[in-house]
Amino acid sequence: MADILNLEKKLAEYKCDTNKAIRLKLVRFAEDLEDETTSFSPLYSHQVFGDEESVFGYKDLEIQLYYSTCSLTTFFNIKYSSKVIEKYDNVETDISCPGFKEYHERLQTFLIWFIETASFIDVDDDKWQFFLVFEKYLEDGSPRYATVGYMTVYNFYAYPDKMRPRIGQMLVLPPFQGEGHGARLLETVQRFYTADPSILDITAEEPSEDFVKLRDFVLAKLCEELHAFAPEKLKKGFSAEMIDEARRTWRINKHHSRRVYEILRLRVTNMSDPVQSSEYRLDVKRRLAVPFKKNKKEATRLSRLMPEDWLAQQAEMSVSQEQEYLEETYQSTVEQYRHILERLARV
Ligand SMILES: CC(C)(COP(=O)(O)OP(=O)(O)OC[C@H]1O[C@@H](n2cnc3c(N)ncnc32)[C@H](O)[C@@H]1OP(=O)(O)O)[C@@H](O)C(=O)NCCC(=O)NCCS
Repeated sequence: MADILNLEKKLAEYKCDTNKAIRLKLVRFAEDLEDETTSFSPLYSHQVFGDEESVFGYKDLEIQLYYSTCSLTTFFNIKYSSKVIEKYDNVETDISCPGFKEYHERLQTFLIWFIETASFIDVDDDKWQFFLVFEKYLEDGSPRYATVGYMTVYNFYAYPDKMRPRIGQMLVLPPFQGEGHGARLLETVQRFYTADPSILDITAEEPSEDFVKLRDFVLAKLCEELHAFAPEKLKKGFSAEMIDEARRTWRINKHHSRRVYEILRLRVTNMSDPVQSSEYRLDVKRRLAVPFKKNKKEATRLSRLMPEDWLAQQAEMSVSQEQEYLEETYQSTVEQYRHILERLARV
């Protein structure tokens, strides 16, 4: 316990308040460069560093942004006393690894504290695959490993000769959350399966809100370089080329590549332009309305088989209620997308 507290304390030293770390200065004379009393801090840094206005990875961070007083030409420099070095290892394994079964039994007890619908898995089923993240540190000169987080994936069969891995659980232990481990782990898993030609695409079981946020970010980051997601193509709408390239290159399924398309299209859409913003809104809303259309078709076809209360509920959902629901969902979807784009901009 004391070790964990020490580790937490140590990691906290590497988290910086960016409102304090940024030092602005108006330089009149060369001596001003060395004069600490003339610098000042910004009030806001969330537009560059995100809502938390913090950055992880540096101790005693100082971001110097100096302006010459007349022409306002800038000098930019970053100082810190120490920096977190890459010291994390990703390991892929299955249940045949000696001692892993017992280790996993202990590891999965954390799920009940941090996942609302946690369930323990049958590890004797050899279709489960495990991806672990460890922190590597030295004790008396010897390497030691500390558990950071993990992900379980089940390899489902996909007709006729492919596999479709489904992410089961993912957990980054709280002292390590918010440091990018989740994103790196998911990207590693995506890359791992991409190397295997028998993998069709990757899905996830009952994804939580946080997981969807993480996945949106990772998949958008992977797809932004793809030819099919070039700005001029994004403006023309979601295409078969996008589905194909995202699946072929990164094993991303159609549903997820559609979300990636909407996120990346938002980035190249001028939302203050009425034509562009209305085209974007219609496109997203058309996708959001698909379940309503399906429901209506189904209701007509199966009306005699459906329970009365379900039919009554459907009838109640008037057109205006449907529109109101679509508008609310659209607004919250765009808000989520903007959040992803802010994180992408910080990469
Ligand atoms: C969901 C989960 C796996 C994410 O793992 P994580 O390691 O915290 O993920 P990341 O660090 O990559 O990203 C998390 C946040 O930290 C931020 N972050 C990452 N690195 C950062 C840094 N260096 N400085 C500041 N913020 C940083 C990210 O921007 C992200 O912010 P957002 O949530 O506002 O978008 C983890 O929170 C978890 O285990 N939760 C509980 C279990 C759960 O819900 N599992 C998923 C369903 S099974």
